[in-house]
Parts: sequence; structure tokens; C-alpha cells
Amino acid sequence: MKKLVLAALALLLISAAAASAASFLLPEPDKTGGPSALEAIANRASAEQKPFEKEELSEKELATILWAATGKNREPKGWTVPLAMGRDPYVKLYVLLKSGGYLYNWEKGGLIEQTNEKRLISSAVTQEFAKTAPCVVVFVTSGLMNVDEFNYIATGAMSQNIYLAAQALGLKTRFLASYNKVKIESSLALSPVAKITGVMVIGRQ
Ligand SMILES: Cc1cc2nc3c(=O)[nH]c(=O)nc-3n(C[C@H](O)[C@H](O)[C@H](O)COP(=O)(O)O)c2cc1C
Repeated sequence: MKKLVLAALALLLISAAAASAASFLLPEPDKTGGPSALEAIANRASAEQKPFEKEELSEKELATILWAATGKNREPKGWTVPLAMGRDPYVKLYVLLKSGGYLYNWEKGGLIEQTNEKRLISSAVTQEFAKTAPCVVVFVTSGLMNVDEFNYIATGAMSQNIYLAAQALGLKTRFLASYNKVKIESSLALSPVAKITGVMVIGRQ
């Protein structure tokens, strides 16, 4: 009887956690449609330095952008970007939204809440137009890859895929080297070995 009660309690706790909006699974990314890869390359350009529209990215758009950046694309393991020695992604992706800051889980295609701080975006970036973006992606080295160049190569591949996915989805994005390092590090509680290698603003213009 005691075991039964404990099991029921555990089930209740699990379903309460699943119902929480803090961390959530994203829908399946869009893997078809849009312009051809060559057309997306032909038209790639950065968002202009002007305000973004207020509209947030849909979960489907977010799922597609993050999957393009570092999603799993084959079994048993393989990613949308090349990674040294086929290692698990060693540059992590954090996402800042109006609701807070999240870590992208490439294995499950979900977002894990790191903070529910509102207005995080406007303090995380420094340029006025960037503060209006509904979504900011932050590239962070995890300390798992000790060859620094490989971290930057991964950031380059991931950011180019975000440019092309945004182009395919009709969204605008821009890579930024200007951001508030101290603010992002503290809000996301990044470990001392973690290093930010860039951020991208994403939205509509
Ligand atoms: C490493 C790097 C750092 C950048 N940093 C910033 C930045 O801090 N602020 C900004 O507005 N744009 C930044 N950009 C965007 C470039 O200014 C932009 O790519 C460049 O003007 C060329 O425009 P295009 O991407 O439309 O071809 C950066 C781009 C790169 C690759």
C-alpha cells in the first residue's frame, strides 16, 4: 500500500512538471518547403539596423531555426552542422525570449528554462534596433571542446545555418559581436568555463 501511494505521488509530480510552461518541447521543425538552398544563399543578408516588429516567432519557426543551427538530422547521431570528430554539440545555444532565457536541448528538440527574467533581451544587447528583437540566440562554448578554433568554426557554421533558415522562413536575422557579456553571463548563470562566441537577433522587419 505504501509503495502504491509513493508511486501515485511520483506520477503526480511528473505530470505537474510536464504541465509547467517553464521548459517545453518544441514542435517538429520544418524540413521541407521554402526556397532552394541555393536561392537562400543567393538572397542571404543581415537584418537592417532598424526596429523589429513586435510579433514573436512561432514555436514552429523557433524549432526550425534551432534545428538548423544544431539539430539532430540522422540516426544514430549526426547534426545539421559539422562538428569536430562528430562530437556532441560543444557550442550550446541559449535562447532569449520575452518570457525568459532558455537552453536548447538538441536531443529532445526542447527549451529548458534558465531564467524567467522578463525584458532580458533589452539588457542583453546594446544596439537600439537589437533591443526590439523578439528573439535572441546566444552561442556559448561549453568547455567540452578545448581547441578554441573549433568552437569558432562551429559558431560560424551554426550562425550561417540560422541565416539561411531565417531566409527560408521569411525572417530577418543579424549576427552581433556587440552584447552585454556580464548581463548574459549572470542571467543565464553560465559556468566560469563557458564563453559567449556571439549572438544573433531574429524577428520580422
Ligand atoms: C563577426 C561578426 C560580427 C558582427 N557584429 C555586429 C555587431 O556587433 N552589430 C551589428 O549591427 N552587426 C554586426 N555584424 C553584422 C555585419 O555588420 C554584417 O554582416 C555586414 O554589415 C554585412 O552585411 P550582410 O550580412 O547583409 O552581408 C557582425 C557580423 C559578423 C560576421
